[in-house]
Amino acid sequence: MVQYKCTRWAFDLSSWSPTLPQLAQAVAVIQPEERARLLKFVFIDDFLSSLVGRLLMRKFVCTQSGLDYKDVHFARDVRGKPYWLQQKHNKCRSKLSFNVSHQGDYVVLAGMSVDAKKDSTDATADVAENENTISTPTFGVGVDVMKIEYSGGRYLAEFFRIMQRKFSDKEWRYIRHPQHNELQQLQAFMRHWCLKEAYVKELGVGITVDLQKISFTVDTTRELVVAGPPLTGTTLQCNDRPMNEWYFEEHLLHPKYCVAIAFKNCKLDLGNFELLKIEYLLMETEKATSPEILDYCREAFKKQRRTW
Ligand code: COA
Ligand code: MG
Repeated sequence: MVQYKCTRWAFDLSSWSPTLPQLAQAVAVIQPEERARLLKFVFIDDFLSSLVGRLLMRKFVCTQSGLDYKDVHFARDVRGKPYWLQQKHNKCRSKLSFNVSHQGDYVVLAGMSVDAKKDSTDATADVAENENTISTPTFGVGVDVMKIEYSGGRYLAEFFRIMQRKFSDKEWRYIRHPQHNELQQLQAFMRHWCLKEAYVKELGVGITVDLQKISFTVDTTRELVVAGPPLTGTTLQCNDRPMNEWYFEEHLLHPKYCVAIAFKNCKLDLGNFELLKIEYLLMETEKATSPEILDYCREAFKKQRRTW
């Protein structure tokens, strides 16, 4: 049996007002090209969300591989999806998949690790026994966090009308349930949106696919409650075909934030999101004293805060 280990981490940005030394320490560990990308954000909120996403990825890979922060490098595929640039000579025998999402106050990471020391005859054990072979895993994970809020300035019904082609008829029947009040309809909408995003994020294709052909049937056996056990009975049909190799989890991090995780070809170990602190993310990093990094951070601190 192959062992799948799932990591679910969340970071609450409202709990972090970085000091200059702290920001410098965080910024110093990310790659220069990512540093340059972050500086293009207009708002400090987006800068910090994306920065924390990078730190979560790094922490995840280091925790699973045993490597130092400085030995972990990431790249992005053609559609911008980050992946770990695993060196052939390193000793990590687990296969990893991870994905990050950020919105509003939250940054989340969902990660999977598959133990390479286990039974290699298992069909799902897409793990190289030979250290020199690095195969692409067929298992994978995608995650999305959404704020359950509508500030579009139109009536919700009008907004739903505009979004008509993003959901299947079946999904709309659930979202527009006549016995649901507006908040419940909005939550149902966001849950579906989140699930679709998590799915397309695992695929790495972004929203280039026809979202109406991706139809979810959400788990209605229980209510989704904050920090409660995730809903795991949600199923997916693509072009009317059941996607049996996929599993979904739905979480409510906070009354206003839902999260969906899409797992491809991996069996779940159930669990909740763990809320991480900045101290934990920076634990193995060193104080940054380089004038270049400090100047960079001063520049970042000049960015505006979002006012909505
Ligand atoms: N696939 C998977 N993950 C990707 C990705 C891709 N092609 N490109 C980037 N990511 C990762 C990165 O870590 C990124 O963080 P970064 O921007 O700080 O580098 C993170 O996912 C962004 O995810 P999230 O915060 O959830 O952003 P998003 O919801 O705006 O999604 C995309 C961005 C690229 C993944 C894509 O799905 C998209 O363009 N979405 C637009 C939103 C939309 O219209 N959704 C409709 C769904 S019903
Ligand atoms: Mg998103």
